[in-house]
Amino acid sequence: MLFPFSAAPLEPVRPAPEPVRPALARILPPPRKPCQRHKNGVITSAGLCARDLLFALFMPQPVQPFARNPAGSRFECRHPHRLKRRKYRGVGEYRANMIFCARMAAAKRTNLLVSPEPDGLITTPIGRWALDKYRLVSLYSRLFSTGMKNKWPNRVYIDLCAGSGFSQIEGTGQLCYGSPLLAMSVPHPFNRYILCERDEDSLNALHQRVHRLFPTREVRFVLGQHDEKIREVAKEIPQGNSVLSFCFIDPFDLSIKFSTIRYLSKYRLDFLLVLMLNAYAHRNVKAYTSITNHKIDDFLGLPDWRQRWQAEEKNGTPFARFLAETFSKQMETLGHLAVPFHKMKLIRSDTNLPLYRLALFSKNQLAYKYWEEVLKYSTDQSSLF
Ligand SMILES: C[S@@+](CC[C@H](N)C(=O)[O-])C[C@H]1O[C@@H](n2cnc3c(N)ncnc32)[C@H](O)[C@@H]1O
Repeated sequence: MLFPFSAAPLEPVRPAPEPVRPALARILPPPRKPCQRHKNGVITSAGLCARDLLFALFMPQPVQPFARNPAGSRFECRHPHRLKRRKYRGVGEYRANMIFCARMAAAKRTNLLVSPEPDGLITTPIGRWALDKYRLVSLYSRLFSTGMKNKWPNRVYIDLCAGSGFSQIEGTGQLCYGSPLLAMSVPHPFNRYILCERDEDSLNALHQRVHRLFPTREVRFVLGQHDEKIREVAKEIPQGNSVLSFCFIDPFDLSIKFSTIRYLSKYRLDFLLVLMLNAYAHRNVKAYTSITNHKIDDFLGLPDWRQRWQAEEKNGTPFARFLAETFSKQMETLGHLAVPFHKMKLIRSDTNLPLYRLALFSKNQLAYKYWEEVLKYSTDQSSLF
């Protein structure tokens, strides 16, 4: 990968001063191979450069690659992650992008899953494919909490289907942190965690684990069905303009009601939803379309969806896609930006069957920038760690 600068010939980047280097070395993961940055003024290897440029950012004086192109008011380089040639308005924007890239590179090298020791408490059973979901949720939580920490003094993590804290892969004894504990493990924790769970035993286990493993986190626990307890959940969101929340909703089926999402949308909040479209919806088309079944009415918040489905069915649209696209349009009515079907990450089973989709909804473009990066990091690792 080559990242040529169109600027004047580059001077070598001087190493960061001695007192800074060891501190940075502790924060940043080690480079994977020896640095080959300066080959005829051309930068090579994205991960290495992100690391080295971060070192360079801490230098007392700006180094040549950050200086403006003397020939013009802008300078060009390739964005290490997007691999797109783009122009930066100035040194500040370029630096901000390099920090973002360094953060992405570091997050991708970090093991996003955590394997705890058994503690004798109840666990949540999961399929092995759920590890993919955990990696993506963990990476997004990291990007969100770190990226927003200087913009929003109060960041809140909401989990409406929190589980027990530890998940166990079915058929194995392997344990891993569930979504709430992954969100508590991020480098820049949220200011508050609001965790809702309908199963009392699971919530008790979660409570004990949080107090043992993350005693300093500020956590509110809500017992009950999220649709019924949504006002209680919302009351725990701090008041004021400085609050930005991230809400993860991970039910077993399509049981989330649109009215619940509408209620929460009054707050500044991004949603990440597990849409159980393929595993459940596809199998249950007949049951769901029956006039006496109100599951999809509640999920979409649209009583007339059956007429729309009849029209789409004639065009050959699969039921799962119809639901996803109609849901996305409904989210747009709440002010969220449009999310095309292909941006909803498909999670497959071990046997490659489509199971469900992870969809992000936000009113802010920056959230989608993070989600884009998360989508690029879709892993094909099938082993736990
Ligand atoms: C698929 S598990 C996910 C657990 C957790 N998000 C994780 O990733 O580890 C679903 C959890 O949501 C809970 N749940 C399902 N429907 C719920 C509802 N309507 N209200 C509250 N909790 C619910 C279940 O009891 C279960 O613990």
